[in-house]
Amino acid sequence: MENKRVLEVKENLKKDLKKNITLNELNDLKVKYLGKKGIITELNSEIKNIPNEEKKEFGMKVNELRKTFNEFYDSEKERLNQEELNKRLESEAVDISLPATKVSMGSPNILEKVIEEVEEVFMSMGYDVVDGPEIELDKYNFEMLNIPKGHPARDAQDTFYIEGEEILLRSQTSPVQVRTMLKGEGKVPIRMICPGKTYRRDDDDASHSHQFMQIEGLLVDKDISLSDLKGTMDVLFKRLFGKNVETRFRPSYYQFTEPSVEVDITCVNCHGEGCNVCKHTGWVTVVGAGVVHPNVLRMSGYDPQVWSGFAFGFGAERLAMMKYDINDIRTFYNTDLREVSTFDREDEE
Ligand code: DAH
Repeated sequence: MENKRVLEVKENLKKDLKKNITLNELNDLKVKYLGKKGIITELNSEIKNIPNEEKKEFGMKVNELRKTFNEFYDSEKERLNQEELNKRLESEAVDISLPATKVSMGSPNILEKVIEEVEEVFMSMGYDVVDGPEIELDKYNFEMLNIPKGHPARDAQDTFYIEGEEILLRSQTSPVQVRTMLKGEGKVPIRMICPGKTYRRDDDDASHSHQFMQIEGLLVDKDISLSDLKGTMDVLFKRLFGKNVETRFRPSYYQFTEPSVEVDITCVNCHGEGCNVCKHTGWVTVVGAGVVHPNVLRMSGYDPQVWSGFAFGFGAERLAMMKYDINDIRTFYNTDLREVSTFDREDEE
């Protein structure tokens, strides 16, 4: 009778164990056959009612049924897992052949780039790049540069006052010369440049801006003369604009240098032939400079009998305008990124 029952179960298994079923169906089958009250589980528990001599064979047959079911279960489970995995891989697949979304990365501002180039030239000659405050004392911006109170030269650099007449927005980066010498405490050599913002009460137009960038330079050592300045200017402008660029000095006047000069370079637009940029002279003035005035050295703690130096200062926008062919200084201070980023200009260099 038990054998009959075994055969019956075997038949049912054959019918039930159809391939390609769902996970739910598979789990139901497991409960149906191997659950606590499952068919095979119950069949197994009947072993106690079987006469001893038949127990072994009965047991083997039930085990075979269990084995049949388990093999089926394992292979279906494996197939379902594989299917699930394939589905996931498919839905998460990344199509690497799709063109990427273009992200705007930004690019250096052209003014900043020119300043960096100037810094590199001077650093290669052993200069330090230093910083100074934009809010400055009258004492450093004027007095210690040999421009006492009431001096007419102050008119040209009318600036913005923060507090009374003593604290102002610096009208030039030259006060950083004073600060550097005071810090240097009489020690040499001093080799520094200082790029930074400066302010003047100018009305903005194509060539004036109430806020602009200057780059100041100072060298103090023994036996420094105008020819050292000439050589330095020559290196700077050849490095910035090419080997064929020439520099020349014209006499000028600044209170903090004696003698004072204006540095001209051959026009980078027409290479000296004459054009609108150089007003048909072939030359463009780019720097104010000179030999540091003895009074300035003395006031900052350097004995002018022993030490000498040269100093220079120029507008960074001016250089950038020449380099990138810009004819309005306001371009640097508007918000049109197309005009002030290097991104579209890369091929012009
Ligand atoms: N500070 C001057 C200006 O703003 C430029 C200048 C001239 C700087 C001569 C110097 C210098 O260091 O020696 O017009």
